[in-house]
Amino acid sequence: MSTRKIVVLGSETLRKKSKPVVSFDENLWKLLDDMRTTMKENNGMGIAGVQVGILRRVIVIEIEKDKFLEIINPQIIKTKGKVKDNEGCLSVPGFYCEVTRPKYVKITAFDRTGKPFEFEAEDYVARCICHEIDHLDGVLFVDYTDEGKAYKKSHGVE
Ligand code: CO
Repeated sequence: MSTRKIVVLGSETLRKKSKPVVSFDENLWKLLDDMRTTMKENNGMGIAGVQVGILRRVIVIEIEKDKFLEIINPQIIKTKGKVKDNEGCLSVPGFYCEVTRPKYVKITAFDRTGKPFEFEAEDYVARCICHEIDHLDGVLFVDYTDEGKAYKKSHGVE
């Protein structure tokens, strides 16, 4: 496993829409392993493929200490409630702000072998899932709030 370089705010790559994974092969497994390593080394809680420059719909989230969820080609099928909480991002180092997200989320996705599964989450994990799925569509948490928009402006990026 190796650490990959994290793409940060200002790069056009972060704004691109990622494509679905079609081959659940060794290249994908290497990518997922590298994403996990990269996330851990940078003290992140979640990471999307685009954040290491790979425009594929892949996400790794640390749902508990040393317990990782890999989600590929996810679809949100249900949400409930709303919670406002602090959020950050490996691609926006040093900036945090409160973002409103669903309290509960249910997704469908595929695991690294291509097997479909459903997953339900609440609170922190639900927040991570929504944040990471946004990355797959080129959306960043700083897009949602006035503080985030001001931060982008102060850094001369959109
Ligand atoms: Co992020």
